[in-house]
Amino acid sequence: MTSAIRVQQVAKRFGSVEALAGVSLDVRQGEFFGLLGPNGAGKTTLISALAGLVRLDSGHIEVMGCDVVSDYRNARRQLGVVPQELVFDPFFSVRETLKIQCGYFGIRQTRARDAWIDEILENLDLTSKANANMRSLSGGMKRRVLVAQALVHKPPVIVLDEPTAGVDVELRQTLWQFIRSLNRDGHTVVLTTHYLEEAESLCTRIAMLKAGRVVALDTTANLLRRFSVHALRLKLAPGVMLPPPLASRAQEKEGAWSIAFDQYSEIEPVLAELRANGCVLEDLEIGKPDLEEVFVRVMRGKEDRFPSGVGADARSPSSVGVTG
Ligand SMILES: Nc1ncnc2c1ncn2[C@@H]1O[C@H](COP(=O)(O)OP(=O)(O)OP(=O)(O)O)[C@@H](O)[C@H]1O
Ligand SMILES: [Mg+2]
Repeated sequence: MTSAIRVQQVAKRFGSVEALAGVSLDVRQGEFFGLLGPNGAGKTTLISALAGLVRLDSGHIEVMGCDVVSDYRNARRQLGVVPQELVFDPFFSVRETLKIQCGYFGIRQTRARDAWIDEILENLDLTSKANANMRSLSGGMKRRVLVAQALVHKPPVIVLDEPTAGVDVELRQTLWQFIRSLNRDGHTVVLTTHYLEEAESLCTRIAMLKAGRVVALDTTANLLRRFSVHALRLKLAPGVMLPPPLASRAQEKEGAWSIAFDQYSEIEPVLAELRANGCVLEDLEIGKPDLEEVFVRVMRGKEDRFPSGVGADARSPSSVGVTG
């Protein structure tokens, strides 16, 4: 089957900044794919290249089999992009904005078109704002309109560049319900977000970018067990420090420490170390590593516990080795 998105050896430089340094990845049709990475990793540059807004130095990108340069119009038609930046025309109402967007894609006014616009407005909780002027909307509402704009031409591939930045909890849930239903109906979704819990629960496969390079690419399930099977989370009493041998293998997150381990027998030595150092615990929990813990380790470029080779295949069959 044709890939929804095929990115081959893509490079882009802005002056001395290598925004994309040879990125290759395939997104299959129907996937819910995550594109993650710290600020400046190259996510938006890649999305802009997909949408034909950035001219690549080298490499190729296809959307549903259409080259984004040589077959720009068809490629663009396959794609709905929710941009990271809030861009809008302040003089039009929400409904007018969506109608104008339809015009860009040559969609004529029909009952079906208007019904689809109504459905989008309804699903994004914008119905009451349909006739409001764009400039009168709050930031979160403007972002909803950007999502609506990306969907007017029913693109098979939907790319969302941080769609929930500055969006309240309720709308996030509404938005994800809607995007999930579009994904169930066969639309491919590519999501960029810094909310890693969102990516963990929504995406079936994830690529992590760092300084313009893919440093991890795997199913979410494989990424989650990439470094360990379990995580021991410790909350220390106020003022208590983790002993250095434990601190060196622990990650701090929201005032708690997480220690990766594979066998339950590894817990006792940790507790013994804490006891020996007189560390008072406020809370202790055993769970699975979350995507944030994995992300931090991948970005630190720590050696993969299961590098490609013997023993790696069962855990991460399609993983790309962690570098950097
Ligand atoms: N038009 C531009 N001119 C100069 N440099 C640019 C331009 N666009 C992007 N860059 C640089 O390219 C790099 C990648 O930027 P990009 O916006 O793709 O990152 P990102 O992964 O989307 O980050 P964020 O999470 O902050 O949105 C950054 O160093 C950025 O400063
Ligand atoms: Mg960005």
